[in-house]
Amino acid sequence: MSIKYKFPKNFWWGSAASATQMEGAGREDDKGLSIWDLWYEKEPNRFFQGISSEVASDFYHRYKEDIKLMKEIGHNSFRFSISWSRLIPDGTGRINEKAVEFYNNVINELIKNNIEPFVTLYHFDMPLEMQYKGGWESREVVDAYGEYAKTCFKLFGDRVKVWITHNEPIVPVEGGYLHDFHYPNIVDFKRGIQVGFNTMVSHCKAVKEFKSLNIQNGKIGVVLNLTPSYPRSSNIADLEAANIADLIYNRSFLEPVVKGEYPKELIQLFKENDLLPCVENGDKELIKNNLVDFLGVNYYMPRRVKAKENMPNPNAPMMPETFFDNYEMPGRKMNVYRGWEIYEKGIYDIMINLKNNYGNIECYVSENGMGVENEERFIKDGIIDDSYRIDFVKEHLKWLHKSIQEGCNVKGYHMWTFIDSWSWSNAYKNRYGFVQLDLKTQKRTLKKSAYWIKEVSKNNGF
Ligand code: GAL
Repeated sequence: MSIKYKFPKNFWWGSAASATQMEGAGREDDKGLSIWDLWYEKEPNRFFQGISSEVASDFYHRYKEDIKLMKEIGHNSFRFSISWSRLIPDGTGRINEKAVEFYNNVINELIKNNIEPFVTLYHFDMPLEMQYKGGWESREVVDAYGEYAKTCFKLFGDRVKVWITHNEPIVPVEGGYLHDFHYPNIVDFKRGIQVGFNTMVSHCKAVKEFKSLNIQNGKIGVVLNLTPSYPRSSNIADLEAANIADLIYNRSFLEPVVKGEYPKELIQLFKENDLLPCVENGDKELIKNNLVDFLGVNYYMPRRVKAKENMPNPNAPMMPETFFDNYEMPGRKMNVYRGWEIYEKGIYDIMINLKNNYGNIECYVSENGMGVENEERFIKDGIIDDSYRIDFVKEHLKWLHKSIQEGCNVKGYHMWTFIDSWSWSNAYKNRYGFVQLDLKTQKRTLKKSAYWIKEVSKNNGF
């Protein structure tokens, strides 16, 4: 087979996952609860088919089997998250020894199989005790996170060399403070901005702790969902609308982590609308002095934007969408099984932007993937024929390859996700894995895409 798209040496092939979405053992071995347990208790109907994250794909007990499968399908790296409330059940203080043992086992098993562990510290799972203190709205929680991060570096930093402070920090803002799809289901832009800012401060505290420990060969970064904002047209109002969307959704995190300060335009916009967060003494310096070593980029779909067409109700809560309208481009290519647009070139545009405007910082694709409902309907000869997923990945990889050829500093590609996982409130509605999960029996079966990615990884291209 001839390889048309060859990737650089030591390219990272693998996938990403998170604690809540795969671990299970939700109430075992002294694990503390998180906001997801509380929300489920309060409103189980908010979760597709009433399925909680308590069992998930039971990685807690089946990590050996799963890591073996990862190895089999050619993973050389895997990103997972540590559950803060498993490691430190109350969020601060006492460390859960069972959790230390579990994460040690996972890390050691990965390394034994030549799979480099990438560890995320926070993937949407606020410990309940910390939420009672106000979650990311509280500076006490920000400090507790800094301590938690330090604990993780000390416990696991001898073997884990790639660290990620936060996964998509804008999402808890969108979900928890704007659009009602995460606990605490508040609708308040200003409080959301405070949450975003505090998360940023917590990120910098973790980076600072990390650097002070001088972990050999270690690097630290953050994972951002850098959804590009495409204007409907070159009309000046459309361009301005897209610029605002980009400021709020992308540059709000990208600029502080890479450049050490917030975009002036964003500060101006928030100032004019009485949305500025409270900033404490020392925050500015903290942000300035604790830049990331690398970025993880999550990309699923583009954001298309047009100028506002109708004046919003002045009494309705303010939203990012107060400043622009989302635009549905006629004839856009769709993942019809999930209702998301597919625009492969987006991945290239992100990388070129990082190259041209962000010092060509080292980065990798930390998530990309395709959710599909009812995948069982595609079973042929006992396995799911997910050729649509193979096409999806292929087309994205072609654009990624092109960006690398043009000099972008891209080190790898991780798929969301290894095995069908529990989604935030969609539970098991949309399946994303290379590996099919039978929820009733916990049986794992490779999908067609798993055999395909194995070849891609083996050949370092396709
Ligand atoms: C991302 C998130 C993941 C996963 C994925 C697929 O935004 O980081 O946790 O849920 O979406 O829906």
